[in-house]
Amino acid sequence: MAEEEKIPLLKPYKMGKFNLSHRIVLAPLTRSRSYGNVPQPHAILYYSQRATKGGLLIAEATGVSDTAQGYPSTPGIWTQEQVEAWKPIVKAVHDKGGIFFCQIWHVGRVSNNGYQPNGQVPISSTDRAVPPQKQHDDTVEEYSPPRRLTIEEIPLIVNDFKLAARNAIEAGFDGVEIHGAHGYIIEQFMKDSVNDRTDEYGGSIENRCRFALEVVEAVVNEIGAERVGIRLSPFADYMECWDSNPEQLGLYMVQSLNKYDILYCHMIEPRMSIIDGRRQIPHRLLPIRKAFKGTFIAAGGYDRDEGNKVVAEGYTDLVTYGRLFLANPDLPRRFELNSPLNKYNR
Ligand SMILES: Cc1cc2nc3c(=O)[nH]c(=O)nc-3n(C[C@H](O)[C@H](O)[C@H](O)COP(=O)(O)O)c2cc1C
Repeated sequence: MAEEEKIPLLKPYKMGKFNLSHRIVLAPLTRSRSYGNVPQPHAILYYSQRATKGGLLIAEATGVSDTAQGYPSTPGIWTQEQVEAWKPIVKAVHDKGGIFFCQIWHVGRVSNNGYQPNGQVPISSTDRAVPPQKQHDDTVEEYSPPRRLTIEEIPLIVNDFKLAARNAIEAGFDGVEIHGAHGYIIEQFMKDSVNDRTDEYGGSIENRCRFALEVVEAVVNEIGAERVGIRLSPFADYMECWDSNPEQLGLYMVQSLNKYDILYCHMIEPRMSIIDGRRQIPHRLLPIRKAFKGTFIAAGGYDRDEGNKVVAEGYTDLVTYGRLFLANPDLPRRFELNSPLNKYNR
C-alpha cells in the first residue's frame, strides 16, 4: 500500500533509535499465568501472535522484587530463573521483528500478607490500607494495612527498579516501561489522596514526585534514557489513589521527565465521554502532551476511528490498545483491512 493511502495508525514513526512501522501498541496486560512468578512457555505464543515487524509491544506488569506482588501468578524479573524464562519469549517477539518493552512494577499497598515474603505486611508511602475493592466478578478483594517505608528504606526500593531494568536488558528486552500508574507504589507516593507523609517524600508536589523521579533517574543511569519509558495515569482513581490536581501533577511529571530525556511517556486517558452518540476522547491530555519532549503514547478506550483521529491531529504519536488487542491478536492487520473485530470478554 502506498504511504499516502495508509490510515494514520499505519504510518511509520521513528521513536528514538526504533523504527516503528505503525502506531498501534500492545498495552501491558496482566495475564496471571506466570506460575510461581516465573514467565511460562505459553507466553511465547501470546506475545508472538501479537508481534509485527516494527510494532511495539509492552509486556504485562512484571514485579521488581518479592515484595512487589499483589495478584496471582504475575511474572517477576528479580531472579536469574525469571530472566532465563523471559529470554525465549523476548526472542520470539524479536524473531517476528517486534520491539518489546518490559513493564516493571511494584504494587506497594495493593497487596496482602498472603502475597508477601514470610507473610509480612505490604510496604507503601503510607500505613493506611486500600479499602476492600469489588472485582468484575462481584467478589471483594481485601488488602492488608501496609507499613510506611522509612526514609532509609526508600533507596532500597529504587534499587529494586534499577536491578529489574538491568535484568530486563539481560533478558533481551529493548527497554523498560516504569509502571507509574493505576494506584501502585509510585502513585502511592505521587498522589495526595494516599501520600500522608510529612518528610521530604510528602506534602508538596515536588516531594510527592521525588520517589518517581528517583526511580527514573536510577533506571536511566543503569540502562540509558533511550531505553526508558514511563506509564502515568494522573487522572485515574484506581485503588482509591487520586490527586486533587491531576493536570498539575501530569505537567510537573512530564516537565521533570524532560530533564532525563527519556524515550516515551505513556498516559492513560481520563474516562471516555459519549458525544453525539459515540465514545470520544475528551483530549484532556493535550497540554501535558505538548509539554513533553519525547514520544507520547495515549491509552484507554481507543477504537480504530478514534485512534486514527488522534494520530492525524497530532494529539499523540502512538496509541495503545488493550482489550481489543487481547481479543484480536492480528489487530494491526484488521485495522488495515477495516475488518470486523472479535468482541472482548472483560
Ligand atoms: C486484563 C487486563 C489487564 C491489565 N493489566 C495491566 C498491566 O499489567 N499494566 C498496566 O499498566 N495496565 C494494565 N491494564 C490496563 C491496560 O493496559 C489498558 O490501559 C486498559 O485496558 C485500557 O485500554 P483499552 O481500552 O484499550 O483496553 C490491564 C487491563 C486489562 C483489561
